[in-house]
Amino acid sequence: MKIKLSLLLIALLMSAKMYSQSTSSVTDAISSSISERKYTNVPVTDQQLDIILKCGIKAPSSMNAQPWKFTVIRDDAAMKEIISDITPGNIIIIVSGVVSQTGTTNDFDCGLAAENIFLAAHGLGLGARIYGSPARNINLKKEAYQIPEGSKAVVAIRIGNVDKGVDATSGASPRKKVEEVVNYKK
Ligand SMILES: Cc1cc2nc3c(=O)[nH]c(=O)nc-3n(C[C@H](O)[C@H](O)[C@H](O)COP(=O)(O)O)c2cc1C
Repeated sequence: MKIKLSLLLIALLMSAKMYSQSTSSVTDAISSSISERKYTNVPVTDQQLDIILKCGIKAPSSMNAQPWKFTVIRDDAAMKEIISDITPGNIIIIVSGVVSQTGTTNDFDCGLAAENIFLAAHGLGLGARIYGSPARNINLKKEAYQIPEGSKAVVAIRIGNVDKGVDATSGASPRKKVEEVVNYKK
């Protein structure tokens, strides 16, 4: 009887564990994140920035080449030049691609690093938005923004604290339906 009860308890615990693994902090961060536009001026801390950068560095890349550089911009004037409606306390991380011998950057790998940064910020309860449009102007003034030699800006990511009153469901841009995007080979 005792053994049967123990087995039942183990089975119950195992099914509870399986159930609790149906979502995780990662899937929750992905599901609930939006690309915020409105921020408070509470600054991003050095500790948060450190975690976010380490998550960017952790991104996978083709042949583990890690063909990216991250430039952190924190001064208001420079940030405003890059994103005109920037809020003081935000930070901008510019992801630049290392220029290969053929003159190209691996934007796919840089995109993975950018996404890691975006998700890490959301995982920490911050807001973030990826911007592609400032890259051209940044590349025209690479020295001013201290973009490392031999690399070219691909995207800028804005990170900041957000008003907790903004809910992710109503703030989210709509996505295509699963059926429009996914097909299962028969
Ligand atoms: C590569 C890339 C470039 C983007 N460039 C811009 C941009 O220049 N300006 C902007 O306001 N948003 C930009 N975005 C943000 C997208 O518009 C946003 O991710 C999309 O609308 C989904 O919004 P949501 O995450 O709030 O649902 C960019 C996103 C990506 C991935």
